[in-house]
Amino acid sequence: MLDRLVSDATAGRSRVLVLRGEAGIGKSALVEYLVWHAAGFRVARAVGVESEMEMAFAGLHQLCAPMLGRLDRLPAPQRDALCVAFGLSDGDAPDRFLVGLAVLSLLADVAEERPLVCVVDDAQWLDRVSAQTLAFVARRLLAEPVALVLAVREPTPGPDDDRLAGLPELVIAGLRDDDARAVLESVMRRCRMPLRRAARRAGARMAPPPTTATTSGTARSWSGVMAIERPGRSPAST
Ligand SMILES: Nc1ncnc2c1ncn2[C@@H]1O[C@H](COP(=O)(O)OP(=O)(O)OP(=O)(O)O)[C@@H](O)[C@H]1O
Ligand SMILES: [Mg+2]
Repeated sequence: MLDRLVSDATAGRSRVLVLRGEAGIGKSALVEYLVWHAAGFRVARAVGVESEMEMAFAGLHQLCAPMLGRLDRLPAPQRDALCVAFGLSDGDAPDRFLVGLAVLSLLADVAEERPLVCVVDDAQWLDRVSAQTLAFVARRLLAEPVALVLAVREPTPGPDDDRLAGLPELVIAGLRDDDARAVLESVMRRCRMPLRRAARRAGARMAPPPTTATTSGTARSWSGVMAIERPGRSPAST
């Protein structure tokens, strides 16, 4: 699915995906897979930071900081709003609609030169306005060669705290017993005998995997993880 996302974005069909799953299930590993496989893409990154959750625009600033040299190319009202949001100029609290449009313009401008992949890990810790703005942008990406992927640890504190609800998502669940044993054995094949015996014993006792994928959808296996694909409700991002 991530491979398809990259090929769609390369072809100028923007794609948005929210990866959801419990701690340690492999969301960051999938994000790294995506970045690694997005050959020829420019990469913009941000990571939600728990201690910055109360700092408005902190997450957005991380994502956009490398692009700020392009601010002059934005329409003036958008540029002014973003400059105030990022503390580059004085002014009253910026209009969030204009900030959203500014980020959209910035991403589109970068993607005009080279396809762009934006990855946001630990998005559950984004400050509220950054998450809202990214969701706004995600709903408006159209024919730009942009892939926007956000990884969110679940469970989120509550439905009202989930600013990314409604975007296309992929729920990552645990490995089945057989798959987990196969992965373990493929690693242990290269190890000494005592380790291999230990692995077999551990495999024999392995508990059933966690099942976060309880919603309706199509079961898919990808690169050693199980995932349930759920269509988003956002027409702009399908
Ligand atoms: N498909 C995989 N193949 C091999 N190792 C994996 C795979 N997925 C995850 N791992 C390993 O499992 C560990 C946890 O994965 P990861 O950090 O990606 O989880 P996460 O879902 O991002 O967790 P968190 O919510 O805490 O950020 C890491 O050490 C990672 O290298
Ligand atoms: Mg992670």
